[in-house]
Amino acid sequence: MNVKMLEHEIGQVDERSDILDGLSQDQKQLSPKYFYDETGSRLFDQICDLPEYYLTRTELGIMREHVEAMTGLMGPRASIIELGSGSSLKTRILLDHVEEPAAYVPVDISRDHLLKTAGCLADDYPEIEILPVCADFTQSFELPEPAVEPDRHVVYFPGSTIGNFSRDDAIDLLKQVRQVVNGNGALLIGVDLIKPRKVVEAAYNDTAGVTAKFNKNILARINRDHAGAFDPSRFEHDAVYDEEHHRIEMRLISCEEQDIPIAGQSIHFEKGEYIVTEHSHKYSIDEFGSIGEEAEFSLKDIWTDPDQLFSVQFLEAI
Ligand code: AVJ
Repeated sequence: MNVKMLEHEIGQVDERSDILDGLSQDQKQLSPKYFYDETGSRLFDQICDLPEYYLTRTELGIMREHVEAMTGLMGPRASIIELGSGSSLKTRILLDHVEEPAAYVPVDISRDHLLKTAGCLADDYPEIEILPVCADFTQSFELPEPAVEPDRHVVYFPGSTIGNFSRDDAIDLLKQVRQVVNGNGALLIGVDLIKPRKVVEAAYNDTAGVTAKFNKNILARINRDHAGAFDPSRFEHDAVYDEEHHRIEMRLISCEEQDIPIAGQSIHFEKGEYIVTEHSHKYSIDEFGSIGEEAEFSLKDIWTDPDQLFSVQFLEAI
């Protein structure tokens, strides 16, 4: 089914200067949001099925086991706003159980992927109004008006995508979420937990090499969208766990000294120099609780798996 979509300007100019800016720093860096073009979204879906990538499997298990408690806390006639909706697999579990949902509003940066999944959901849930929004959810965006006035706005933010943000940026993002859902709103969020180095590093250095492909795709995307001339085969993927900051750092390491033209500029790489393409923070329950509180959310309930690998948390606006 075709769905109507709200489209927010995702500025090409801003994106280009953001990319060039990141590659001009002493420590070269790129925002992980640039992973998700059509190919990147497809590769990410493949990552979710990898045996080493415990996150998706574990979160799905938690959702399946505790969805009734979650939707019970939400109450009836909620509008569910999903940030970075991806393939919406976990969403289906929620939508199967929410009582009289007012609307489902997936917000995603990847336009085609968003339209495809929104269309599929519209087919499978004809009784729910599906209102996709193509936007970068780190910028402020407008919410569409559902036909039915919702009793409550609930933001669903699964996948531990919050882990991509630094502590301060995570607080800012949750503050923005707090604005979107306002007074009686809530947030259902997936948060990856601190665990031994070898488990985390295996998840981001899979033996099939899918994460390496996903990481290198950011270079192909810059080539295509920003007149770049990266040769992805001249970069190597690595992911290292930083135990001090409790985060994985994904890198693209230059295999040789090289100069790469991008949008009329030239970026110099020494041999062994790397671009940081992603941080993925792991949290203790207490540490994440303090982030929620800074954004005026209080923890209502939390669900984890028996090995405490991952958590799903229900926060309410204070
Ligand atoms: C989508 C941010 C949750 O950090 O685990 C997976 C992205 N990167 N493998 C993560 C990712 C490499 C993922 N998040």
